[in-house]
Amino acid sequence: MRYLTFALAKGRLAYKTLEMFERIGITCEEMKDRDSRKLIFVNEELGYRFFLAKANDVPTYVEYGAADIGIAGKDTLLEEGRNLYEVLDLGIGRCRMCVCGPASAREYLQHHEMIRVATKYPRIAKDYFFNKKHQTVEIIKLNGSIELAPIVGLSEVIVDIVETGSTLRENGLTVLEEVCPLSARMVVNQVSLKRENERITRMIRQLKILIQQQQEVNQ
Ligand code: PRP
Repeated sequence: MRYLTFALAKGRLAYKTLEMFERIGITCEEMKDRDSRKLIFVNEELGYRFFLAKANDVPTYVEYGAADIGIAGKDTLLEEGRNLYEVLDLGIGRCRMCVCGPASAREYLQHHEMIRVATKYPRIAKDYFFNKKHQTVEIIKLNGSIELAPIVGLSEVIVDIVETGSTLRENGLTVLEEVCPLSARMVVNQVSLKRENERITRMIRQLKILIQQQQEVNQ
């Protein structure tokens, strides 16, 4: 049996994903050791291989077929824009992509002013401002701590992920507009979906049932 290879985004999402997989019988004991520095794990018996990659690289591994399946946030998928099949919303890692800033910046958005937008997600920000809002802005790419930008005067607003909202609150910023909801998605390589159709569709079916059960419990 050929290995089915999974690329998981390193960190909390990978462990949440593994918990879900375990419930449908996809297990990998050696991956449970969170202190391990190993990057690749195998379940010989079931024919599964897992590796941990930087979140932004997950779509790349899957597009090139180095992984058959990937789990990554919708933010990463939108930003990377790779050719993949997005087959399932896992319903975990829920958060929102938002335009944020001081409350005083709200009028710049209302009047479609030429403002500076700092973000780790230039593609998502461009699509939102240029294609959806038809507002010309200057996009400034940053790599983290995006909330700093409007505070120190680098930009008027930011486009960033909001989960609990505490980073914004603690820095005197607020959500001004919502760009889109986000959550973890399963993506599949286009050739793998054909070649391993039976194994992959069975797994998707089982995960769908699990997700539905979880939703019913949460209601
Ligand atoms: C993310 C995001 C926000 C924060 C939102 O940053 O960019 O800064 O989390 O979460 P909250 O609404 O629960 O406060 P992350 O911690 O990933 O680090 P980064 O600043 O390096 O992007």
